[in-house]
Order: sequence, then C-alpha cells, then structure tokens
Amino acid sequence: MNQEDFPRILGICCRWCSYAGADLAGTMRLQYPPEIRIMLVPCTGRVDILHVLKAFDLGFDAVFVSGCHIGDCHYLAGNVRAVKRVAKLKKDLAAMGIEPERLEMFHVSSGEGPKFATVCKEMYERAIKLGPNPVKREARAAWLAKQPEAGVAA
Ligand code: FES
Repeated sequence: MNQEDFPRILGICCRWCSYAGADLAGTMRLQYPPEIRIMLVPCTGRVDILHVLKAFDLGFDAVFVSGCHIGDCHYLAGNVRAVKRVAKLKKDLAAMGIEPERLEMFHVSSGEGPKFATVCKEMYERAIKLGPNPVKREARAAWLAKQPEAGVAA
C-alpha cells in the first residue's frame, strides 16, 4: 500500500475485545471496507498519542481506537485512559489543521462482530467525506481539485 493511496484507515484494537470482535466479523463473513488495517495492542490504555500521530504522518486518512466496554477492560481502566487521550488528541489535531473527525474511540466487545463491521464502515465513510489526510499533499491537492467547490483551500 502506497502512502498516497486513498483511503487508508487504521484500527487500533485491544486484543481482549475489539480484536476478537474483528475476528468474529470475519468468521461471520461480514463485509467491511478492505482499506482497514488492524493494529493489535494488549489494551487501548497502551495507545500513545505518538502512535496516532505517527499513523497520520504515515498517510492514514482515519484512525480509530477500539477497546473493551467501560468496566470490562482487562487492565481495569486502560480504556478510560484511552477515551481521555483520544478526546485530548482530537483537540490537538484540530490545532494542527487535521480534522478531529479523522480520529475516534469505540467500544466493541468480542461478541459484537456486526458492530465492528459498522465501525469500520463509519470510519471509511468519514475518510471518503473528509478526503485525503492533509499530510498527503499530492493526493489531497488532486482530491480538492475534483471537489465541486474546487479552489477552496482546506
Ligand atoms: Fe481491552 Fe483494556 S483490555 S481496553
């Protein structure tokens, strides 16, 4: 996959719930966009702000963090910390000129394969609506030129 490819979406999933939810979605043969790449982490509490910033720097157009439901984290409060981190990072992204909608936090359990597929579709649709990540200058410029309001800077 080329850095300028569009869309590219990263799902950072905790191994205990969301990764198993992704597995279940596959087992159930549910359709979700193939542009999603999954990164396994032991717990969403492990997700650092730098991981997300690096993903955007590498050209991902949207990133989601998906962990256990509140109260179900295997490390007690990792997902609570992740919720706070994602909320703070969304504000920081806005300050950097990256739309905060490109980042989201979800809670998907191991038994929620259909919900995982829905999350993937939602993030795919957001990426399509927002266009290429501003870090991907060439892809972004080409996409903007095709928009009805071409010439309007992002
Ligand atoms: Fe799943 Fe902490 S173990 S979010």
